[in-house]
Amino acid sequence: MLIIVAAIGKQGQLGLNKVMPWHNPEDLNHFKNLTMDKKVVFGRVTYENLPKKLKGREIFLVTTKDLQSDEFTVIKDFKAFCQEHQQSDDVYYICGGESIYEQALPYTDEFYLSMIDYSGPADTFFPEVALHDFDEQTIDYDTFTLYHLKRKRKDS
Ligand SMILES: NC(=O)c1ccc[n+]([C@@H]2O[C@H](COP(=O)([O-])OP(=O)(O)OC[C@H]3O[C@@H](n4cnc5c(N)ncnc54)[C@H](OP(=O)(O)O)[C@@H]3O)[C@@H](O)[C@H]2O)c1
Repeated sequence: MLIIVAAIGKQGQLGLNKVMPWHNPEDLNHFKNLTMDKKVVFGRVTYENLPKKLKGREIFLVTTKDLQSDEFTVIKDFKAFCQEHQQSDDVYYICGGESIYEQALPYTDEFYLSMIDYSGPADTFFPEVALHDFDEQTIDYDTFTLYHLKRKRKDS
């Protein structure tokens, strides 16, 4: 199964100049706790611009390039990957950026969205989500609100 994890500004902002436009240590800590020891999937642009190396997670990198590293496993056909893992027991945390969220969205039944109090500029945005398709739980942190969304079952 695929789970999308993202931090989103007030107008859907995700990133600016290849990095997040805010620095929110509490949200970074939430991300670390959620994904530690798990499988995480990144687009190449996001991964190359992470401020520091991710430890303790199994990393999958989406790219068309012939990259090789001990740090990650390459995914070249992301659509096939999403189709294969939509219903699988293995859990993959989809960690952005914009192009990866857009492509994974139709195959994803669960989201952790941190809503950040940010109204400034951005050059990448989170795609529209049809909220009525999801059950929603919110948790208030000191510096953001976490929306945990689960897609409603078709028979409910
Ligand atoms: N706020 C948040 O929670 C959050 C989370 C993550 C990222 N971000 C932000 O998002 C921005 C980056 O987003 P982005 O859309 O520009 O880049 P991205 O999604 O991180 O990476 C795009 C790259 O992924 C590869 N790719 C995408 N689709 C592919 C496919 N179907 N098959 C093979 N490779 C594919 C390509 O790599 P190649 O060019 O190597 O082929 C493409 O150039 C940054 O500003 C980042 O900080 C924000």
